[in-house]
Amino acid sequence: MSYVAPLTPVLSNNWDQVRAWQIGSYERSGGYSALKRALTMQPADVVTAVKDSGLRGRGGAGFPTGLKWSFIPQDNPKPKYLVVNADESEPGTCKDIPLMLASPHTLVEGVIISSYAIRASVAFIYVRGEVLHVVRRLQQAVAEAKAAGYIGTNIQGSGYDLDVVVHAGAGAYICGEETALLDSLEGRRGQPRLRPPFPAVAGLYGCPTVINNVESIASVPAIIANGPDWFASMGTEKSKGMTLYSLSGHVTRPGQYEAPLGITLRELLDLAGGVRNGHQLKFWTPGGSSTPLLTAEHLDVPLDYEGVAGVGSMLGTKALQIFDETTCVVRAVLRWTEFYKHESCGKCTPCREGTWWLVQILERLEAGKGSEEDLDTLLDLCENILGRSFCALGDGATSPISSSIQYFKDEYIAHFKHGGCPFDPMASTLFATAGATV
Ligand SMILES: Cc1cc2nc3c(=O)[nH]c(=O)nc-3n(C[C@H](O)[C@H](O)[C@H](O)COP(=O)(O)O)c2cc1C
Ligand code: SF4
Repeated sequence: MSYVAPLTPVLSNNWDQVRAWQIGSYERSGGYSALKRALTMQPADVVTAVKDSGLRGRGGAGFPTGLKWSFIPQDNPKPKYLVVNADESEPGTCKDIPLMLASPHTLVEGVIISSYAIRASVAFIYVRGEVLHVVRRLQQAVAEAKAAGYIGTNIQGSGYDLDVVVHAGAGAYICGEETALLDSLEGRRGQPRLRPPFPAVAGLYGCPTVINNVESIASVPAIIANGPDWFASMGTEKSKGMTLYSLSGHVTRPGQYEAPLGITLRELLDLAGGVRNGHQLKFWTPGGSSTPLLTAEHLDVPLDYEGVAGVGSMLGTKALQIFDETTCVVRAVLRWTEFYKHESCGKCTPCREGTWWLVQILERLEAGKGSEEDLDTLLDLCENILGRSFCALGDGATSPISSSIQYFKDEYIAHFKHGGCPFDPMASTLFATAGATV
Protein backbone atom coordinates (compact mmCIF):
# COMPACT_ATOMS: atom_id res chain seq x y z
CA MET A 1 0.00 0.00 0.00
CA SER A 2 1.43 3.38 -0.92
CA TYR A 3 1.76 6.10 1.68
CA VAL A 4 -0.88 8.81 1.35
CA ALA A 5 0.15 12.11 2.88
CA PRO A 6 -2.46 13.84 5.05
CA LEU A 7 -4.28 16.85 3.73
CA THR A 8 -4.45 19.83 6.12
CA PRO A 9 -7.58 21.78 5.23
CA VAL A 10 -7.36 25.17 6.93
CA LEU A 11 -8.07 27.73 4.20
CA SER A 12 -10.32 25.23 2.45
CA ASN A 13 -11.86 23.83 5.64
CA ASN A 14 -15.28 25.45 5.17
CA TRP A 15 -15.55 25.22 1.38
CA ASP A 16 -18.10 22.40 1.53
CA GLN A 17 -20.41 24.21 3.96
CA VAL A 18 -23.82 25.36 2.74
CA ARG A 19 -23.44 28.87 1.28
CA ALA A 20 -19.87 29.04 2.59
CA TRP A 21 -19.48 32.46 0.96
CA GLN A 22 -22.09 34.11 3.18
CA ILE A 23 -21.22 35.72 6.48
CA GLY A 24 -23.62 33.56 8.56
CA SER A 25 -22.01 30.35 7.33
CA TYR A 26 -18.52 31.77 7.85
CA GLU A 27 -19.29 32.86 11.41
CA ARG A 28 -20.79 29.44 12.23
CA SER A 29 -17.41 27.93 11.20
CA GLY A 30 -15.64 30.23 13.69
CA GLY A 31 -15.12 33.10 11.26
CA TYR A 32 -14.30 36.59 12.60
CA SER A 33 -13.21 35.23 16.02
CA ALA A 34 -9.58 35.83 14.98
CA LEU A 35 -10.42 39.47 14.21
CA LYS A 36 -11.95 39.89 17.66
CA ARG A 37 -8.78 38.46 19.19
CA ALA A 38 -6.50 40.62 17.01
CA LEU A 39 -8.32 43.78 18.08
CA THR A 40 -7.39 43.02 21.72
CA MET A 41 -3.69 42.87 20.71
CA GLN A 42 -1.35 45.74 19.94
CA PRO A 43 -0.84 46.12 16.15
CA ALA A 44 2.89 45.49 16.60
CA ASP A 45 2.11 42.20 18.36
CA VAL A 46 0.03 41.08 15.37
CA VAL A 47 3.05 41.79 13.15
CA THR A 48 5.26 39.78 15.53
CA ALA A 49 2.83 36.84 15.49
CA VAL A 50 2.87 36.74 11.68
CA LYS A 51 6.67 37.04 11.70
CA ASP A 52 7.00 34.21 14.24
CA SER A 53 4.67 31.96 12.25
CA GLY A 54 7.18 31.92 9.38
CA LEU A 55 4.46 32.72 6.80
CA ARG A 56 6.05 33.46 3.43
CA GLY A 57 4.26 35.25 0.60
CA ARG A 58 2.15 32.88 -1.49
CA GLY A 59 2.22 35.10 -4.60
CA GLY A 60 5.35 33.44 -5.97
CA ALA A 61 8.51 34.84 -4.46
CA GLY A 62 8.04 33.53 -0.89
CA PHE A 63 9.12 36.74 0.86
CA PRO A 64 8.43 36.60 4.64
CA THR A 65 5.09 38.34 5.21
CA GLY A 66 5.66 39.65 8.77
CA LEU A 67 9.03 41.07 7.74
CA LYS A 68 7.41 42.91 4.82
CA TRP A 69 4.87 44.44 7.23
CA SER A 70 7.64 45.56 9.57
CA PHE A 71 9.17 47.68 6.77
CA ILE A 72 6.21 50.09 6.94
CA PRO A 73 7.67 53.21 8.59
CA GLN A 74 5.22 53.93 11.38
CA ASP A 75 6.79 57.35 12.05
CA ASN A 76 5.83 58.44 8.50
CA PRO A 77 2.80 60.76 8.88
CA LYS A 78 1.32 59.73 5.50
CA PRO A 79 -1.59 57.29 5.31
CA LYS A 80 -0.67 53.59 5.10
CA TYR A 81 -2.35 51.23 2.67
CA LEU A 82 -2.87 47.51 2.35
CA VAL A 83 -3.29 46.25 -1.22
CA VAL A 84 -4.31 42.66 -1.87
CA ASN A 85 -3.02 41.23 -5.12
CA ALA A 86 -6.00 39.24 -6.43
CA ASP A 87 -5.04 39.55 -10.10
CA GLU A 88 -4.27 35.84 -10.52
CA SER A 89 -3.51 35.41 -14.24
CA GLU A 90 -0.46 33.17 -14.62
CA PRO A 91 -1.21 30.16 -16.84
CA GLY A 92 -1.93 27.21 -14.54
CA THR A 93 -2.32 29.29 -11.40
CA CYS A 94 -5.79 28.79 -9.97
CA LYS A 95 -5.83 28.98 -6.17
CA ASP A 96 -6.83 32.57 -5.25
CA ILE A 97 -9.92 32.60 -7.44
CA PRO A 98 -11.35 29.35 -5.95
CA LEU A 99 -10.52 30.63 -2.46
CA MET A 100 -12.33 33.95 -3.01
CA LEU A 101 -15.24 32.21 -4.68
CA ALA A 102 -15.72 29.62 -1.94
CA SER A 103 -14.94 31.70 1.12
CA PRO A 104 -14.43 35.42 0.42
CA HIS A 105 -14.79 36.21 4.13
CA THR A 106 -11.54 34.35 4.90
CA LEU A 107 -9.81 36.99 2.77
CA VAL A 108 -11.90 39.87 4.12
CA GLU A 109 -11.15 38.87 7.74
CA GLY A 110 -7.45 38.63 6.81
CA VAL A 111 -7.61 42.08 5.20
CA ILE A 112 -9.04 43.66 8.36
CA ILE A 113 -6.48 42.02 10.68
CA SER A 114 -3.56 42.83 8.36
CA SER A 115 -4.68 46.45 7.91
CA TYR A 116 -4.96 46.80 11.69
CA ALA A 117 -1.43 45.38 12.07
CA ILE A 118 0.15 47.92 9.68
CA ARG A 119 -2.22 50.70 10.86
CA ALA A 120 -3.89 51.23 7.48
CA SER A 121 -7.30 52.84 7.39
CA VAL A 122 -8.02 51.97 3.74
CA ALA A 123 -7.41 48.61 2.07
CA PHE A 124 -7.82 47.70 -1.60
CA ILE A 125 -8.49 44.31 -3.13
CA TYR A 126 -7.29 44.46 -6.76
CA VAL A 127 -9.14 41.59 -8.41
CA ARG A 128 -8.91 40.33 -11.95
CA GLY A 129 -11.89 41.92 -13.71
CA GLU A 130 -12.70 38.99 -16.00
CA VAL A 131 -13.79 36.84 -13.06
CA LEU A 132 -17.00 38.76 -12.58
CA HIS A 133 -18.54 36.12 -10.28
CA VAL A 134 -15.57 36.53 -7.90
CA VAL A 135 -15.78 40.32 -8.05
CA ARG A 136 -19.44 40.08 -7.06
CA ARG A 137 -18.70 37.62 -4.24
CA LEU A 138 -16.05 39.98 -2.85
CA GLN A 139 -18.31 43.02 -3.11
CA GLN A 140 -21.07 41.11 -1.32
CA ALA A 141 -18.68 39.88 1.40
CA VAL A 142 -17.36 43.42 2.02
CA ALA A 143 -20.94 44.73 2.23
CA GLU A 144 -21.87 41.96 4.68
CA ALA A 145 -18.79 42.67 6.82
CA LYS A 146 -19.67 46.38 6.86
CA ALA A 147 -23.25 45.63 7.92
CA ALA A 148 -21.96 43.36 10.70
CA GLY A 149 -19.62 46.07 12.05
CA TYR A 150 -16.36 44.36 11.03
CA ILE A 151 -15.55 47.16 8.56
CA GLY A 152 -16.28 50.87 9.16
CA THR A 153 -15.73 53.17 12.10
CA ASN A 154 -14.88 52.01 15.62
CA ILE A 155 -14.77 48.32 14.60
CA GLN A 156 -16.14 46.14 17.43
CA GLY A 157 -15.70 49.09 19.84
CA SER A 158 -11.92 49.08 19.35
CA GLY A 159 -11.60 52.64 18.10
CA TYR A 160 -10.07 51.30 14.84
CA ASP A 161 -11.53 52.54 11.53
CA LEU A 162 -11.16 50.80 8.16
CA ASP A 163 -12.65 51.04 4.70
CA VAL A 164 -12.18 48.22 2.15
CA VAL A 165 -12.44 48.89 -1.60
CA VAL A 166 -12.86 46.10 -4.18
CA HIS A 167 -11.26 47.24 -7.45
CA ALA A 168 -11.72 45.25 -10.65
CA GLY A 169 -8.69 45.28 -12.99
CA ALA A 170 -9.10 45.30 -16.76
CA GLY A 171 -7.37 41.99 -17.44
CA ALA A 172 -3.63 42.36 -17.98
CA TYR A 173 -1.19 39.79 -16.60
CA ILE A 174 1.39 42.53 -15.96
CA CYS A 175 -0.99 44.20 -13.50
CA GLY A 176 -0.24 41.30 -11.13
CA GLU A 177 3.33 42.63 -10.86
CA GLU A 178 3.02 44.64 -7.69
CA THR A 179 4.21 48.04 -8.89
CA ALA A 180 2.29 47.80 -12.19
CA LEU A 181 -0.73 46.99 -10.05
CA LEU A 182 -0.22 50.21 -8.09
CA ASP A 183 -0.03 52.28 -11.30
CA SER A 184 -3.19 50.60 -12.55
CA LEU A 185 -4.96 51.21 -9.23
CA GLU A 186 -4.01 54.89 -9.48
CA GLY A 187 -5.72 55.00 -12.88
CA ARG A 188 -2.64 54.80 -15.08
CA ARG A 189 -1.53 52.24 -17.65
CA GLY A 190 -0.19 49.26 -15.68
CA GLN A 191 3.59 49.15 -16.11
CA PRO A 192 6.22 48.24 -13.51
CA ARG A 193 7.88 51.03 -11.54
CA LEU A 194 11.59 51.48 -10.93
CA ARG A 195 12.66 50.37 -7.43
CA PRO A 196 13.80 51.88 -5.08
CA PRO A 197 11.70 53.41 -3.69
CA PHE A 198 9.99 50.21 -2.61
CA PRO A 199 6.23 50.22 -1.99
CA ALA A 200 6.77 49.98 1.80
CA VAL A 201 8.22 53.51 1.60
CA ALA A 202 6.45 55.04 -1.43
CA GLY A 203 3.70 52.82 -2.81
CA LEU A 204 0.09 53.72 -3.57
CA TYR A 205 -0.24 57.52 -4.04
CA GLY A 206 3.37 57.76 -2.82
CA CYS A 207 2.40 56.42 0.63
CA PRO A 208 3.74 53.42 2.60
CA THR A 209 2.00 50.34 1.18
CA VAL A 210 1.98 46.61 1.83
CA ILE A 211 1.10 44.44 -1.17
CA ASN A 212 0.33 40.80 -0.49
CA ASN A 213 -1.14 37.88 -2.34
CA VAL A 214 -4.69 36.66 -1.55
CA GLU A 215 -3.51 33.40 0.01
CA SER A 216 -0.92 35.19 2.18
CA ILE A 217 -3.57 37.51 3.65
CA ALA A 218 -6.17 34.72 3.93
CA SER A 219 -3.68 32.72 6.06
CA VAL A 220 -3.53 35.45 8.71
CA PRO A 221 -6.83 34.72 10.58
CA ALA A 222 -5.80 31.09 11.19
CA ILE A 223 -2.41 32.24 12.50
CA ILE A 224 -4.04 34.65 14.96
CA ALA A 225 -6.70 32.11 15.97
CA ASN A 226 -4.33 29.16 16.51
CA GLY A 227 -1.04 30.89 17.24
CA PRO A 228 2.24 31.18 15.33
CA ASP A 229 3.62 27.94 16.81
CA TRP A 230 0.69 25.95 15.43
CA PHE A 231 1.39 27.34 11.94
CA ALA A 232 5.13 26.84 12.24
CA SER A 233 4.63 23.22 13.33
CA MET A 234 3.57 22.44 9.74
CA GLY A 235 5.84 22.46 6.74
CA THR A 236 9.62 22.29 6.61
CA GLU A 237 12.49 24.08 8.33
CA LYS A 238 12.38 27.23 6.21
CA SER A 239 9.00 26.89 4.52
CA LYS A 240 6.36 26.87 7.21
CA GLY A 241 2.66 26.15 7.23
CA MET A 242 0.06 24.66 4.95
CA THR A 243 -0.68 25.88 1.45
CA LEU A 244 -2.91 25.35 -1.56
CA TYR A 245 -1.44 23.17 -4.30
CA SER A 246 -3.41 23.35 -7.56
CA LEU A 247 -3.26 20.23 -9.73
CA SER A 248 -4.39 20.61 -13.32
CA GLY A 249 -3.94 18.97 -16.71
CA HIS A 250 -3.57 15.23 -17.24
CA VAL A 251 -4.48 14.20 -13.70
CA THR A 252 -7.41 12.01 -12.62
CA ARG A 253 -8.88 14.42 -10.05
CA PRO A 254 -7.66 17.97 -10.70
CA GLY A 255 -8.30 20.59 -8.04
CA GLN A 256 -7.04 22.27 -4.90
CA TYR A 257 -5.09 20.13 -2.43
CA GLU A 258 -4.24 21.88 0.83
CA ALA A 259 -1.21 20.28 2.43
CA PRO A 260 1.90 21.20 4.43
CA LEU A 261 4.78 22.73 2.46
CA GLY A 262 7.28 20.03 1.61
CA ILE A 263 4.81 17.43 0.31
CA THR A 264 5.99 15.83 -2.95
CA LEU A 265 4.29 15.59 -6.32
CA ARG A 266 4.25 11.81 -5.92
CA GLU A 267 2.18 12.18 -2.74
CA LEU A 268 -0.11 14.76 -4.29
CA LEU A 269 -0.66 12.56 -7.34
CA ASP A 270 -1.60 9.69 -4.99
CA LEU A 271 -4.24 11.94 -3.47
CA ALA A 272 -5.41 13.07 -6.90
CA GLY A 273 -5.80 9.57 -8.34
CA GLY A 274 -2.59 9.71 -10.39
CA VAL A 275 -1.88 10.72 -13.96
CA ARG A 276 -4.92 9.98 -16.14
CA ASN A 277 -5.53 6.29 -16.68
CA GLY A 278 -3.14 4.49 -18.99
CA HIS A 279 -0.67 7.36 -19.26
CA GLN A 280 2.65 8.41 -17.74
CA LEU A 281 3.96 11.70 -16.45
CA LYS A 282 6.12 13.47 -19.00
CA PHE A 283 6.72 16.95 -17.57
CA TRP A 284 5.17 19.36 -15.07
CA THR A 285 5.42 22.89 -13.77
CA PRO A 286 5.90 23.32 -10.02
CA GLY A 287 4.53 26.86 -9.88
CA GLY A 288 2.93 28.03 -13.08
CA SER A 289 4.29 28.57 -16.57
CA SER A 290 7.09 30.93 -15.51
CA THR A 291 8.80 28.27 -13.39
CA PRO A 292 11.24 25.91 -15.15
CA LEU A 293 9.71 22.56 -16.14
CA LEU A 294 10.48 19.40 -14.19
CA THR A 295 10.09 15.75 -15.18
CA ALA A 296 9.29 12.34 -13.68
CA GLU A 297 12.75 12.24 -12.11
CA HIS A 298 11.60 15.05 -9.77
CA LEU A 299 8.54 13.28 -8.35
CA ASP A 300 10.11 13.06 -4.87
CA VAL A 301 11.37 16.64 -4.61
CA PRO A 302 9.90 18.36 -1.53
CA LEU A 303 7.56 21.06 -2.76
CA ASP A 304 8.89 23.87 -0.60
CA TYR A 305 10.91 26.95 -1.57
CA GLU A 306 14.29 25.32 -0.94
CA GLY A 307 13.49 21.87 -2.36
CA VAL A 308 12.27 23.15 -5.72
CA ALA A 309 15.11 25.71 -5.98
CA GLY A 310 17.53 22.85 -5.32
CA VAL A 311 16.56 21.22 -8.62
CA GLY A 312 16.80 24.44 -10.61
CA SER A 313 13.18 25.55 -10.58
CA MET A 314 10.90 27.63 -8.33
CA LEU A 315 7.92 26.83 -6.13
CA GLY A 316 6.13 29.91 -7.51
CA THR A 317 2.39 29.70 -7.03
CA LYS A 318 2.32 25.91 -6.53
CA ALA A 319 0.40 25.53 -9.77
CA LEU A 320 1.22 21.94 -10.68
CA GLN A 321 0.34 21.50 -14.33
CA ILE A 322 0.66 17.86 -15.29
CA PHE A 323 1.44 16.77 -18.86
CA ASP A 324 1.52 13.14 -19.98
CA GLU A 325 3.42 11.51 -22.84
CA THR A 326 0.82 12.56 -25.43
CA THR A 327 1.86 16.21 -25.12
CA CYS A 328 4.26 17.82 -27.55
CA VAL A 329 6.57 19.87 -25.35
CA VAL A 330 7.48 22.20 -28.24
CA ARG A 331 3.83 23.04 -28.84
CA ALA A 332 3.16 23.55 -25.10
CA VAL A 333 6.15 25.89 -24.84
CA LEU A 334 5.07 27.79 -27.96
CA ARG A 335 1.60 28.37 -26.46
CA TRP A 336 3.10 29.73 -23.23
CA THR A 337 5.52 31.95 -25.16
CA GLU A 338 2.65 33.39 -27.21
CA PHE A 339 1.04 34.31 -23.90
CA TYR A 340 4.18 36.13 -22.69
CA LYS A 341 4.55 37.95 -26.02
CA HIS A 342 0.93 39.08 -25.81
CA GLU A 343 1.21 40.15 -22.16
CA SER A 344 4.60 41.90 -22.43
CA CYS A 345 3.86 45.51 -21.44
CA GLY A 346 6.44 46.88 -23.88
CA LYS A 347 8.34 49.00 -21.38
CA CYS A 348 11.74 47.35 -21.91
CA THR A 349 13.45 46.18 -25.08
CA PRO A 350 14.69 42.69 -24.08
CA CYS A 351 11.16 41.51 -23.24
CA ARG A 352 9.18 43.51 -25.84
CA GLU A 353 11.40 42.53 -28.78
CA GLY A 354 12.72 39.26 -27.33
CA THR A 355 9.36 37.59 -26.71
CA TRP A 356 8.35 38.44 -30.31
CA TRP A 357 11.48 36.74 -31.66
CA LEU A 358 11.03 33.76 -29.35
CA VAL A 359 7.58 33.15 -30.84
CA GLN A 360 8.87 33.43 -34.43
CA ILE A 361 11.55 30.80 -33.83
CA LEU A 362 9.33 28.47 -31.83
CA GLU A 363 6.65 28.62 -34.55
CA ARG A 364 9.25 27.60 -37.10
CA LEU A 365 10.54 24.78 -34.91
CA GLU A 366 7.09 23.50 -34.09
CA ALA A 367 6.17 23.42 -37.79
CA GLY A 368 9.25 21.29 -38.46
CA LYS A 369 10.92 24.08 -40.44
CA GLY A 370 13.61 24.94 -37.92
CA SER A 371 17.26 24.00 -37.60
CA GLU A 372 20.00 23.32 -35.04
CA GLU A 373 20.97 26.98 -35.46
CA ASP A 374 17.45 28.04 -34.40
CA LEU A 375 17.88 26.13 -31.16
CA ASP A 376 21.13 28.00 -30.48
CA THR A 377 19.47 31.34 -31.30
CA LEU A 378 16.57 30.46 -28.98
CA LEU A 379 18.95 29.81 -26.08
CA ASP A 380 20.97 32.93 -26.92
CA LEU A 381 17.80 35.04 -26.86
CA CYS A 382 16.80 33.53 -23.51
CA GLU A 383 20.21 34.43 -22.09
CA ASN A 384 19.76 38.01 -23.25
CA ILE A 385 16.27 38.35 -21.79
CA LEU A 386 16.92 36.62 -18.45
CA GLY A 387 18.25 39.09 -15.90
CA ARG A 388 18.19 41.97 -18.42
CA SER A 389 14.47 42.67 -18.37
CA PHE A 390 12.87 45.37 -16.27
CA CYS A 391 10.60 42.97 -14.39
CA ALA A 392 10.16 39.25 -13.79
CA LEU A 393 7.75 38.77 -16.73
CA GLY A 394 10.70 38.70 -19.13
CA ASP A 395 12.62 36.24 -16.94
CA GLY A 396 9.53 34.03 -16.63
CA ALA A 397 9.10 33.90 -20.42
CA THR A 398 12.47 32.18 -20.76
CA SER A 399 11.89 29.48 -18.12
CA PRO A 400 9.77 27.02 -20.14
CA ILE A 401 12.06 27.39 -23.16
CA SER A 402 15.43 26.80 -21.54
CA SER A 403 14.16 24.03 -19.25
CA SER A 404 12.38 22.21 -22.09
CA ILE A 405 15.56 22.29 -24.20
CA GLN A 406 17.49 21.00 -21.17
CA TYR A 407 15.20 17.98 -20.77
CA PHE A 408 13.73 17.43 -24.24
CA LYS A 409 16.30 18.59 -26.77
CA ASP A 410 15.75 15.37 -28.76
CA GLU A 411 12.13 16.27 -29.22
CA TYR A 412 13.04 19.68 -30.68
CA ILE A 413 15.52 17.97 -33.00
CA ALA A 414 12.90 15.38 -34.05
CA HIS A 415 10.67 18.25 -35.27
CA PHE A 416 13.14 19.64 -37.77
CA LYS A 417 14.68 16.28 -38.62
CA HIS A 418 11.35 14.96 -39.80
CA GLY A 419 9.75 18.17 -41.03
CA GLY A 420 6.81 18.28 -38.61
CA CYS A 421 5.43 17.59 -35.20
CA PRO A 422 5.87 13.93 -34.22
CA PHE A 423 2.72 14.24 -32.10
CA ASP A 424 0.58 15.15 -35.06
CA PRO A 425 -1.63 12.02 -35.62
CA MET A 426 -1.08 12.23 -39.39
CA ALA A 427 2.66 12.58 -39.00
CA SER A 428 3.16 9.80 -36.47
CA THR A 429 2.70 7.07 -39.07
CA LEU A 430 5.21 8.80 -41.28
CA PHE A 431 7.74 9.04 -38.44
CA ALA A 432 7.18 5.46 -37.37
CA THR A 433 8.05 4.47 -40.94
CA ALA A 434 11.07 6.73 -40.88
CA GLY A 435 12.17 5.23 -37.54
CA ALA A 436 11.91 8.45 -35.56
CA THR A 437 12.02 8.22 -31.81
CA VAL A 438 10.77 10.95 -29.52
C1 LIG B 1 4.19 39.42 -14.39
C2 LIG B 1 3.90 39.18 -12.95
C3 LIG B 1 2.61 38.82 -12.56
C4 LIG B 1 2.32 38.61 -11.22
N1 LIG B 1 1.05 38.25 -10.89
C5 LIG B 1 0.73 38.10 -9.58
C6 LIG B 1 -0.60 37.78 -9.20
O1 LIG B 1 -1.50 37.66 -10.03
N2 LIG B 1 -0.85 37.63 -7.87
C7 LIG B 1 0.13 37.78 -6.92
O2 LIG B 1 -0.14 37.67 -5.73
N3 LIG B 1 1.39 38.06 -7.26
C8 LIG B 1 1.73 38.23 -8.55
N4 LIG B 1 3.00 38.56 -8.89
C9 LIG B 1 3.99 38.76 -7.79
C10 LIG B 1 3.83 40.17 -7.18
O3 LIG B 1 4.66 41.07 -7.91
C11 LIG B 1 4.23 40.22 -5.71
O4 LIG B 1 5.47 39.61 -5.55
C12 LIG B 1 3.22 39.54 -4.78
O5 LIG B 1 1.93 40.06 -4.95
C13 LIG B 1 3.65 39.76 -3.33
O6 LIG B 1 2.76 39.11 -2.45
P1 LIG B 1 3.26 38.02 -1.41
O7 LIG B 1 4.47 38.59 -0.70
O8 LIG B 1 2.11 37.83 -0.49
O9 LIG B 1 3.61 36.79 -2.18
C14 LIG B 1 3.33 38.77 -10.23
C15 LIG B 1 4.63 39.11 -10.62
C16 LIG B 1 4.91 39.30 -11.96
C17 LIG B 1 6.31 39.68 -12.35
S1 SF4 C 1 9.97 42.63 -18.67
FE1 SF4 C 1 8.27 42.77 -20.14
S2 SF4 C 1 6.49 43.10 -18.86
FE2 SF4 C 1 8.30 43.61 -17.59
S3 SF4 C 1 8.66 45.80 -17.92
FE3 SF4 C 1 9.84 44.75 -19.49
S4 SF4 C 1 8.43 44.72 -21.27
FE4 SF4 C 1 7.20 45.14 -19.47
